[in-house]
Amino acid sequence: MSKAHFGLIGLGVMGENLVLNAESNGFSSVVYNRTFSRTEEFLKGRAVGKQIQGAIDLKDFVSKLERPRRIFMMIKAGSPIDAVISQISPLLEEGDLLIDGGNSEFRDTERRVKELESKKFGYIGMGISGGAKGALEGPSMMPGGTKASYEAIESLVSKMAAQVEDGPCVTYIGQGGSGHFVKTVHNGIEYGIEQILAEAYDLLKRLYKKTPSEIADVFGTWNDTEELSSYLVEITEVCLRTKDPNTQDDLVEMIMDKAGQKGTGLWTVVSGLELGASVPTIYAALNARVMSSIKSERLHAESFIKFDPIILTDQYSNEDCASFLMDAVVLACIASYSQGMELLRRASSEYNYQLHMPSIAQIWKGGCIIRAKLLQRIQNAFNADPDIPNLLIDPWFANQINDRLPGLSKTASMAAMAGIPVPCITSTLDYIHSYRTSRLPQNLVQAMRDCFGSHTYQRIDKEGSFHTEWLD
Ligand code: 6PG
Repeated sequence: MSKAHFGLIGLGVMGENLVLNAESNGFSSVVYNRTFSRTEEFLKGRAVGKQIQGAIDLKDFVSKLERPRRIFMMIKAGSPIDAVISQISPLLEEGDLLIDGGNSEFRDTERRVKELESKKFGYIGMGISGGAKGALEGPSMMPGGTKASYEAIESLVSKMAAQVEDGPCVTYIGQGGSGHFVKTVHNGIEYGIEQILAEAYDLLKRLYKKTPSEIADVFGTWNDTEELSSYLVEITEVCLRTKDPNTQDDLVEMIMDKAGQKGTGLWTVVSGLELGASVPTIYAALNARVMSSIKSERLHAESFIKFDPIILTDQYSNEDCASFLMDAVVLACIASYSQGMELLRRASSEYNYQLHMPSIAQIWKGGCIIRAKLLQRIQNAFNADPDIPNLLIDPWFANQINDRLPGLSKTASMAAMAGIPVPCITSTLDYIHSYRTSRLPQNLVQAMRDCFGSHTYQRIDKEGSFHTEWLD
């Protein structure tokens, strides 16, 4: 058999699907898995009759690849990646290229790019979004590393990626760990939107007393709008309509209210703090998962921390309440994207990634979990002004805020009076009000810092640094 176009290590569902995706686009491959029985199972099953060969060990794997070798690693982030790199490196030759397609921490990728490039190998850290279906049918891909390394995989990944009207959902992101950084922020935005939609569901259920199928109808209508049409809204409707095969009840109501996480949401928030980017909506989503995980404490607290709900919904018509809720959801989603994009902009300058913001919006328009119609508006905003400090001041987004801020405020108030936590919605409200307030009360914070710690302050009427002896 002739040498394969590329190799893949790690036959989980993502790995299998990527190989099948590439094969359907004309690229042959050789696959390797730590346990050979998994490889055999794949070769005898989904890979039958396809341009896919197996390898019994890494030596066999490397020998079956055309040069320069292009090797995808679809394995668990962290030490397994380092282990595979050290096992395979002695078998590689100059110019060969390793591609980490998992959710690696971007600093790990920075380190690996430096180490591998110094040995004259290429190394790409590539975020891949879209889950198992995306991997098979076309994901969004975020590759970072040297431009030369990217060029070695460009023909392959541009065929494998999802295609939208203005091209494939893959582009060269930038140097070092930039691809994994962008994927991390993608996931932070994903956390935000998932939580916002969960808060909307909770309000529709507990405040507006709707059943899951009625709530699904609301999500269905939202998915027909420019502002909310998105993959996550679409699958939320599906989740809400799915019945439990055991009980025939709504499956969503049978699921334990504890959300897990694998790290990328946390890394987004940590990066936000490190880089001085304000990401409160994304943080609220992360913290909501943390709160959800302390189920037994919440159960205990419910029995003695009491609150008498005040229901304000009857002050408004049903149509008005529905429209206020949509306002809240739209603005919270906009806040998630704008906070993520702002974080990317800061990282680009701090780490010299030279991110091209319109292209990032473009490759998120298809294939990935946060794909949404709104990304066209985001792309337009960055095309109009690549240095825009925050999407909120783009004219289209500013109009959305001006139109929808009253509805967001009413939704937040009604939730607060009813005692229903909506952390993404309320933090979005604070975020927008903070952003549009020219004088915040941090003058007093500065006074206190100077009072107890002589930290000094600036004045509004003259240049310089000042200190006052506040206490006698
Ligand atoms: C994607 C997803 C995916 C991510 C999961 C898990 O873009 O396909 O972002 O890569 O790993 O959604 O994330 P959590 O388990 O942390 O929610």
